[in-house]
Amino acid sequence: MDKLFEEIWQLALPYLKRGVMKDFVIHTKGVIKAMELLLEKEKGNKDILIPAAILHDVGWSKVPLELQKSNDESDKVEALKLHLKYAPQIIEEILGKADYDKAKIERIIDIAISHKFQDPKESDKQLLIDADALADAFKEQFYSDVKSYGLTPEKNYKFRKKSKFYTRTVAELFKKELEKRREEF
Ligand SMILES: [Fe+2]
Ligand SMILES: [Fe+2]
Repeated sequence: MDKLFEEIWQLALPYLKRGVMKDFVIHTKGVIKAMELLLEKEKGNKDILIPAAILHDVGWSKVPLELQKSNDESDKVEALKLHLKYAPQIIEEILGKADYDKAKIERIIDIAISHKFQDPKESDKQLLIDADALADAFKEQFYSDVKSYGLTPEKNYKFRKKSKFYTRTVAELFKKELEKRREEF
């Protein structure tokens, strides 16, 4: 990772460690890796999309623990909404510390808060949504979720199999990756 991205990652870590619904450090590592892969194949601004990948879930740090751990569907939706609501302030603080350009910060926030409950037309936003979903099919991320959610690998496989993608490249990468997971059980 570039030095600047490394700095942003270090600043994001304490926030990511505070999320408890799943291991957001492992998840985010996967989203960064996925985004790097996508950027080899799709057009996109690295200076915007790598920080967006690093920071998209920092809002979980402020979501009440009982909501993160709840099995109730409306609590789950509320938790998801809150992780988006809390993101802008934290992202602004982190990128401010990293001396990021103001206009870029605004753009990164806009992309980060669009990764749930939306069906964006902009390719930057679609790339983050795709990277977010692809990440959870990678080996480390897949088994981390199995542990966090108390699922069997088979159940997680069936759940992940429903993922939808904007770009065909990602859909194909995802299919290959998930197929490897299926062969493991
Ligand atoms: Fe998220
Ligand atoms: Fe995520």
